Amino acid sequence: MKLAAVALVAATAAVAQNIPSIAWGFASSAYQVEGAWNVDGKGPSVWDHWFLNNHSLVASKGAGNPIAAGDVFKTAGHYDRMKEDVALMASFKSSMYRFSVAWSRIFPQCNGQVNQKGIDFYSRLIDELLNAGIQPVLTMYHWDTPQACEDQYGSLLNRDMFIRDFTSYADVLYANFGSRVKYWLTFNEPAAYCGRGFGPVNDAYIWPPGKNGRESDKYNCIATTSIAHGVVVQLARSKYPQYEMKFSMPLIIAYYIPVAPADVEQANINTLSQGDWLWGSLASADGDYPAYLKTVKTGDMDGSLLPSFTAAEKATMKGTLDYIALNYYSAQYFNGVSGQSAPTLTIKADQVPWQSAYPGGIRGITQLMARSYGPLLASSVGGLAPIMISECGYGSISEAFGPISQSVNDVDRQAFFEGITAGLQLAVVEDKTPVFGFLAWSLLDNLEWLTFDQTWGLVHVDQQGGTLERTVKQSANKLAAFFAGSKSPIALALPGSKPANSTVSSAPAATASGAAVTTANPTATGSPSKSSNSIAPGYSVAIALFSAFALMLV
Ligand code: NOJ
Repeated sequence: MKLAAVALVAATAAVAQNIPSIAWGFASSAYQVEGAWNVDGKGPSVWDHWFLNNHSLVASKGAGNPIAAGDVFKTAGHYDRMKEDVALMASFKSSMYRFSVAWSRIFPQCNGQVNQKGIDFYSRLIDELLNAGIQPVLTMYHWDTPQACEDQYGSLLNRDMFIRDFTSYADVLYANFGSRVKYWLTFNEPAAYCGRGFGPVNDAYIWPPGKNGRESDKYNCIATTSIAHGVVVQLARSKYPQYEMKFSMPLIIAYYIPVAPADVEQANINTLSQGDWLWGSLASADGDYPAYLKTVKTGDMDGSLLPSFTAAEKATMKGTLDYIALNYYSAQYFNGVSGQSAPTLTIKADQVPWQSAYPGGIRGITQLMARSYGPLLASSVGGLAPIMISECGYGSISEAFGPISQSVNDVDRQAFFEGITAGLQLAVVEDKTPVFGFLAWSLLDNLEWLTFDQTWGLVHVDQQGGTLERTVKQSANKLAAFFAGSKSPIALALPGSKPANSTVSSAPAATASGAAVTTANPTATGSPSKSSNSIAPGYSVAIALFSAFALMLV
């Protein structure tokens, strides 16, 4: 615990000013906040179907547990409280909001008839946001496939049918919202829904449609996702060029911080490969995975199992990433080559098990991403890729089981975001990393997919009492205070947009001002650099933290 405190002090030391030119706000997803699962013509999604068919919530924690009280069919009740929630965001003076459209509100039967009331809801939301000076960011797919697509043909495992129906859905979204929404996100975190919904699952966290299939099903689902992304981005560019919609695919990437110079190359491969099995094909000049991936095996990804693409599929995918959308939650030290000892970087013991919350890592990971993808994206400036932090947040388990006063005075989440904003400030102001948007996960306490046993909101929602009343937590006020001077124009332009599919150059990574950086850059080069011997940003952070820790010992 003492060590955790040191990490925090080091990470927050630089909080002094805000960032003048960044859009900021909150992120959410339809299933997690809306409720109203069968209202106004909405069809059931695979998640609704899961709970309607007697699957129960996972993770019971004993007395006073909120799991029994939380209602999966109401969640945070955002569908009925949309105006109140936008007003809340406006009261924080936030300038960006990421939401997802529930596909089954638009196409209750998967295909065929469009449900106008579904269109109307999101249309009202977008207008409400724009009137409040908040830039909408629209996620097209945040895991809630219409159950009808699953019943009719097995959804993501039937590539042709899935892409056909997703394309019709995309077309309707563009026609209705394209003139008002500039930033689009196609598929949120494919590794999660492909792995837990279709691949083999060995724990209680099996997700709908609950296939529990073969490893190859997971990879086919991933490949279908990449191709579908390519198809719908091409559709937007060819059919609606007047709208200038910009696209990305949000991926969760954990940052591996090298402990010593010898660890830099492998640490960077561990970090970048989590993105490259999806972004790699979309950002590349030839539409294929970077060659180095074939031999990489990290976390969820085994490169030898990646299915190959046809020439037509590659042509559809290449050049379809306009910016990097990064969901940042975790970092960890990597000492696998040097074997040198590394400190543990977590803020608090009771946090969500998968989250290794080290906020200071946001500086290093954004720098690594900007430099690695910079040479590949048409919209890059000076060799650096524009980045939206499409999610960043802190999950608390003790808060979910505690009194509301504990939630409101959410000290751990406040500390997390203090570290994040400090790191972000160094990234943007000092390193000149082009992070143009920052979205905290999440505005509201909501339904964490299969459980209510953890809270992620910066605003408390009374789920236990059932009133769904909103109460602002201190972390929201602190975040708003940090960004108070960040006046981002509503028509925020991506830096240096060039025509889509322009020739990709392979400019060398620029030199950082301040932090010394090495990028293994496997994405840009096709194989990991063998000449990495300078110090990565995370390494300098590591040195700072280690020094601080050492000082405490004397
Ligand atoms: C990422 C997912 O996109 C989101 O739905 C989830 O709630 C957060 N991580 C927190 O686990």
